[in-house]
Amino acid sequence: MTVQQTELEYLPSDLERELLPKHVAVIMDGNGRWAKSQGLPRIMGHKRGVDSLRNLLRTCRDWGVGALTAYAFSTENWKRPEEEVEFLMSLFKHVLRQELREMMQEDVQIRFVGNLEALPLVLQEEITHATEKTKENKGIKFTVATNYGGRLEIIHACRAIAEKVQQGLLQPDDIDESVFEKHLYTVGICDPDLLIRTSGEMRISNFLLWQIAYSEIYITDTLWPDFDRNEFHRALRAYQQRERRFGKV
Ligand code: IPE
Ligand code: IPE
Ligand code: MG
Repeated sequence: MTVQQTELEYLPSDLERELLPKHVAVIMDGNGRWAKSQGLPRIMGHKRGVDSLRNLLRTCRDWGVGALTAYAFSTENWKRPEEEVEFLMSLFKHVLRQELREMMQEDVQIRFVGNLEALPLVLQEEITHATEKTKENKGIKFTVATNYGGRLEIIHACRAIAEKVQQGLLQPDDIDESVFEKHLYTVGICDPDLLIRTSGEMRISNFLLWQIAYSEIYITDTLWPDFDRNEFHRALRAYQQRERRFGKV
């Protein structure tokens, strides 16, 4: 990937700034099918998927969406062929290294959620480096879910809370939604307003189970490598037409 400086793109005139989601989460699905449709090996779909993510991050920044969370690798994705898993781990490492300079220029604050300790050490080092380096950045909050599972995250939170109870630091009656949220990987990040899934699958696949309680869900048949600015524009237009009720009338 090349470092390229692009002009700031303004928000399309049919979108209302006040009604933009503050946080968009995306299940980037369909890389394998995209590659197959082009007669290419699956890994080429993942490579192209990185371009889509970079473009989406930039579009979010340009249009004023404050936070983007992307599902890059699930706790279930280890069940894929070894070569594909190895390729993905190496791709994450290289992309992170290459994109850091640009993320600094664009004031992006990157962080990672998931069971990071199970990732290859070299990738963990790159993750720590990028997180540390960008932590004071004030621009878009970019979260990458890597070896992430919503169920594992909830179990992880339960364990941490149980330990505090055992140590007498917390009483069972003190445990409420706000205490619980403080023990999730996503502490400090608001819940997604909009969840996008590409490639037409009507499922959540263990992503942000707690956090999407009231997210608006947008599913498109477009495969992730084809998800561009126009597709995102469509998703935002659909989102702005929704009536969010949060249980009220
Ligand atoms: C999403 O694309 C990327 C990851 C899960 C890492 P897929 O690889 O799942 O693509 P399809 O769903 O097989 O087409
Ligand atoms: C979800 O996609 C995980 C990521 C996008 C990283 P999958 O392709 O793994 O989901 P399933 O298997 O179709 O549910
Ligand atoms: Mg898939």
